[in-house]
Amino acid sequence: SIPIFQTVASYREWRRRAYDEKKSVGFVATMGALHDGHASLVRRSLAENDLTVVSIFVNPAQFAPHEDLATYPRTLPHDLDVLSSLSHSVPGSSITRSPSALFLPTVNEMYPSGITQDKLAQKGTFVEVKGYGHQMEGSRRPDFFRGVATVVTKLFNAIEPSRTYFGQKDIQQALLLRRMVRDLLLSHPTLENLFIVPTKRSVVLSNLLSRAHVFYVCRDAKSSLALSSRNAYLTPSERELAAPTLYAALQAAKTCWESGSSKAEVIANAYNLVERKAQELSSLETRIDMRLDYLEMNDPETFEVVPGEETRSAWELEGHNRPVILSGAMWVGRTRLIDNVVLGDV
Ligand code: PAJ
Repeated sequence: SIPIFQTVASYREWRRRAYDEKKSVGFVATMGALHDGHASLVRRSLAENDLTVVSIFVNPAQFAPHEDLATYPRTLPHDLDVLSSLSHSVPGSSITRSPSALFLPTVNEMYPSGITQDKLAQKGTFVEVKGYGHQMEGSRRPDFFRGVATVVTKLFNAIEPSRTYFGQKDIQQALLLRRMVRDLLLSHPTLENLFIVPTKRSVVLSNLLSRAHVFYVCRDAKSSLALSSRNAYLTPSERELAAPTLYAALQAAKTCWESGSSKAEVIANAYNLVERKAQELSSLETRIDMRLDYLEMNDPETFEVVPGEETRSAWELEGHNRPVILSGAMWVGRTRLIDNVVLGDV
């Protein structure tokens, strides 16, 4: 079974051996409740590194006092099963790789100066990527990226990865961490060794979908839901009928943008789509509440909002094939879901 390290000191002995043996170490940071999205990051690491370390740590610093720190799913036995089911056979050899180590620190280990949800009472060292944490997700969760940047710096310092993998699912997180690696002149990993892995989704197909009154989003071939640990909060009908609307709206927005509409039209159209679907769902017998938190288009370099009058052709003229992030968050009942599509390469 996979070795588990709960302290930085014990992990470092293992890491020293990897240095001695000149083995590369791939790293995937998680908060647990592992699903196939996490697994795709781990598989990529297994394919590209001699050794792969996964961390599971529910980071208090990235949850606001009113958020779901206490109820965030903690499923260690399941997570160990997922990790032990993953393997990669190295082509042209008889070598099969599996995850090499699990880093499972306590809160005290990660925050030796302590950590409290009350920002004003916090003491110790924090990392802030200024100018990049207040847009998109940061506009709704003001201290979120400070918490992420802080814990990931600590994890990088502890793990010393040769390569590391983050999901496109959390695109702002991945791009912000890239900037942090650059700004802090980190060497483990270097900027080139932080990779962004495409979002894993599940196609939503269920018996419920054949019912006449729920046909619309769910019969759409594109209907799918980004895998997320927070999907566990959804009831079956929220998951099947409501949750796929976010990706459907992003897909509709993408089509609209690509056909030449202005950004303002693109966004208005996406809001309308969600609003229509929300009305349908609120009139169901098992009433479902759903609303967009935001849906926006942002520049992947600056994170700034794309101006309302901007169109695709004008945007791309400003730089050959200039990419853009289309991202959003949606409330389904009391669960907040996020998703994005990136048009172009970041
Ligand atoms: P968590 O939400 O557990 O996600 C861990 C990693 O898995 C992140 O890089 C995330 O983008 C990626 N991931 C999640 N869902 C995915 C999906 N459907 N497809 C592909 N990748 C997916 O993100 C965090 O934890 C935390 O903020 C963390 C970076 C661990 C810092 O605490």
